[in-house]
Formats: sequence, C-alpha cells, structure tokens
Amino acid sequence: MSREKDTFYLTTPIYYPNDLPHIGHAYTTLAADVLARWRRLSGDNVFFLTGTDEHGQKIAQAAAERGVSPQQLVDDINPRWRDMLTLLRISNDDFIRTTEPRHTARVQQFMQRLYDQGDLYTATYAGPYCVRCEAYYTVEELVDGELCPIHRRPVERLEQENWFFRLSKYSDALLALYDQHPDFVRPQARLNEVRSFVAAGLEDISASRSAFDWGVPVPWESGHVFYVWFDALLNYITAVGYGEDSDEFGRRWPADVQLIGKDILRFHAVYWPAMLIAAGLEVPRQVFAHGFLLVGGEKMGKSNATGIAPEQLVAHFGLDCYRYYFLREISFGQDGTFSWESMTERYTADLANDLGNLANRVLNMVGSYCDARVPAPAGPAGEPEARLAEDHAAAVAGLQAFDRLDFMGGLADLWTFVSGVNRYVEARAPWAQRKAGQIDELHRTLYTCVDALRIIAVLISPVMPNAAEALWAKLGLAEDLWSQRLPQAAAAGQMPVGAITTRGDLLFPRLEDA
Ligand code: MSP
Repeated sequence: MSREKDTFYLTTPIYYPNDLPHIGHAYTTLAADVLARWRRLSGDNVFFLTGTDEHGQKIAQAAAERGVSPQQLVDDINPRWRDMLTLLRISNDDFIRTTEPRHTARVQQFMQRLYDQGDLYTATYAGPYCVRCEAYYTVEELVDGELCPIHRRPVERLEQENWFFRLSKYSDALLALYDQHPDFVRPQARLNEVRSFVAAGLEDISASRSAFDWGVPVPWESGHVFYVWFDALLNYITAVGYGEDSDEFGRRWPADVQLIGKDILRFHAVYWPAMLIAAGLEVPRQVFAHGFLLVGGEKMGKSNATGIAPEQLVAHFGLDCYRYYFLREISFGQDGTFSWESMTERYTADLANDLGNLANRVLNMVGSYCDARVPAPAGPAGEPEARLAEDHAAAVAGLQAFDRLDFMGGLADLWTFVSGVNRYVEARAPWAQRKAGQIDELHRTLYTCVDALRIIAVLISPVMPNAAEALWAKLGLAEDLWSQRLPQAAAAGQMPVGAITTRGDLLFPRLEDA
C-alpha cells in the first residue's frame, strides 16, 4: 500500500562536476532554496533535492584532460559543490550523486521496463553532437551551420549504433499534457516554445552510448551505457524511493516544482515527461525555466572566462545581500545582467539604508528611552497605525508571489512595508514624543516599530536567513525563528512586551572599498 502525497517536493538540476560552480549554477540552487524555505514557513512538509550529474562524455573528457579517472575527478570536485551549498546556506534535504548505487540500480530498473515493453530499439544514428550539452542537434539548429546554439563552439559529428527511445510515440500525450496542464511549463513563453517543438514532429532519441563506458551499464547489452541525460533525469525519482520504497515514493512524487535553466528546457519538458508517461508514472506538476545570468551581455560560464565564483561576492557583500540581490534585481524567468555596481546600489539603498538603519534606529530608541525593554502599547492606535497595517497586509499578500516564483514582485511588496515602517517612524517622531513627555504615545510608537521588525524578520527569513536570525536575536525573542509558521507568525501584535532588546552590530555595515 503506497501512501498519499504529503510533501512539497522541489528539485534543482543536478550539476556537472567537471569544474567548479559559478554564480550561474548557484542561481538555480538559490531560487530553489528560497522557495523551499518559503514553503516551510508556509507550513509545508518540504523535500528539497539537489545533486551532481557525474556520468557521460563531458566528465570522461574532463577527467582524461586532467589525467585522472572519471571517478577520481568527480570524487575530487564533489566536495567543492557541497561547499557552495554550505556557503549559501542552502537547506537541501538530500544530495544525490548519479554514481551512487541507490541511483544506478534504479536507472537500470526503469530502463529495463521501457525495454521490456518495446519502447527501446537499436538503430544507427549520425549527426552533429555538442559534448558540452551532451546532445545531438540538427543541422538547421546549428549557428552558421557549424556552431552549437548554446555554446557557440564547433560541434562534432557523432555516429553510433545505439538504443533509441520511441519518443515520437508520445507526441500526442505530450501535446495533451501541455493543453490540459498549461502550468506544466512556466513561464508561458517557454510552454509555447516547447509546444511548437513537439507539434513540429518529434524524432526518436538515442538512449545509450557505446563509444565510451563512463555511465550506467545497459543491463541487456554489454558495451553500452545509458545516455547521460536518461541517467540524469531519473535522479528526480531515484532519490525519492522509486523502485525501492513505494511508501516514500507515494508521499513525494510527483515533484511540485522542478527548477531549471532555459538551456535544458527540452530535456525537462519533452523527454522527461515522455519517459515518465512511458513508465506509467505521473509527470511533475511544474517545470519552471529561468533565464541566464549574463556578464557583459554573454551567458556566464566556465568556458568563456566570465565565470564568477559565489565566494567572491559573498566575501564582499555578505551572504544576505548575495541572496537578496539576485532575486530582487532579476525577474525570475528572464535573462538578467549581474553587475558589481547594481549589487552595491541594492546593498546601500535597500539593505543598509531601508532595513539596517530602521532596525538600528528603533533598537537604539528602545535602548535609551525604555531601558531596552519592549514597552506595552499604551496609547491609542490611530491613523498612522492604520496606514502601516495596510502596508503590512499588502506585504503578506504580496509575498504569495513567491508561489509563482515571482521573487522580484514579492520582495518589492515586502519593501513597501519596510519603507512604510520608516515613514511611520518619521510621522510619529518618537524623539519628539519623548521630549513632549507623551509617554503613552511613545510606547505605542516603539511597540509598533518593534512588532513590525519582528514581522520583517519572519518575512525576510526565506531570502536572508542570517539577517533574519540576527534581527530575531536583537529583538530578544525566545522562540525559534525556524519554527515560525504563516499566517500566525506574521500577524501583528505578537511582540512580547518586556522582551529585552540589544542594539549590537549593524545588520548591514558599510561596505569596504572593493
Ligand atoms: N547536468 C545537466 C543537468 C541535468 S538535470 C537532470 C546540466 N548541468 S550544468 O551544470 O551544465 O547546468 C546546470 C544548471 O545551471 C542549468 O539549469 C543551467 O541553466 C544553470 N546555469 C549554468 N550557467 C548559467 C548561467 N550563466 N545563468 C543561469 N543559469 C545557468 O545542464
């Protein structure tokens, strides 16, 4: 008896560990982490998977260039990918490596099923092949008839006798999927792209390789390994109990959101659902393709020396700004340009000024006017409190945009609230209230501000976990930040009277000159 789905399951692509991570890779993982933390805060039982894609010709070639075995290469580089997760405070629940037996055994099992039911057959195929993409292209897809459309580098001509998957057989099922579940591929433009690709007619695709042996062996024919993309895509189910633990599989599959970059859309929105349909499994609820991070107008990558390592930026701007910047600055789904200048501007304006100064100012006043004890909200709530309550409600409602992966919109609404608290402080002028001896009014003002800071700490926590924790601690809150759940956690009036606040270090200190 398998159990009902009870988990919000989200995935990142699994990365090729042929080199070190750059901020383009970190981008997908970061967005997934924010969504994972957001869903946890919203009360879901989340399972967040990431990992590394360790087989295939690309890895075999990189290993040969370094004079090590492919296994040695991936074992050496794997820790560096895990370091990236630690550096960025990624809260993944599992990390799968496709060289692990838990994966390879189940890949064989899945493919055996396709073979047994006649979905695989042998044929010879020849065509232009990009090793970096690990994919065949048609001549029409090449740039100037010879360059890979993604990497703009010469492709090779590859001829192999392979096992082929009857992809064409599933064309109608795929078209029906896109029509009946238009949310299956997001954003909309990507759905249209995939739909026209399938509508133009699908060819069967090769599912094995025999020219090299770095892969999962085809059980029924020695000398063949599965094509790395079949192996890789299956990680999304092998990691959650497929073929091993039907209870776990039932609770987690199908995935709720699979995040990918737009370069791997066809694999995830065409081949992957076709494989699942063939095996009689449910397809993911959504595949969301984001755009590229560009540097100087080019896709950031390791091959063209534009790769920037996340640690360079974290060292200068701090983790919270790193996480905030990429989600606030770039509309998720579109391409976006990273620049040092715009990151500096976001740091100064949104973080140091709007949020950091606000917290510092409020905590400073509670410290000096109230002996660092949160006062009871004595005076009457009036017009300024009502206006602030509106901003607060708008922020909580606006953040629901995270569910549509509109991080930019959600954060913009949250910052309207942060600005609203700043306006409130100016309007109420607690320093003047104190001077005038209006103690009840002063207490009302400061309580409202501290209460707002508590709400802000909760609401920024998916994006800026360090700043949220630091602010939470300054507010002297005893409960665990990470066990807070919406909507209660963001309701007004929950700041405990008498909590002992500390001003401490600035949340966002002045940036050192770069
Ligand atoms: N191993 C495959 C994915 C298999 S998933 C079953 C792969 N790996 S990758 O390491 O090359 O890329 C992984 C992800 O990083 C992709 O989603 C890709 O879009 C993303 N990015 C790599 N460079 C990027 C940018 N410059 N900008 C944004 N994302 C980028 O493909």
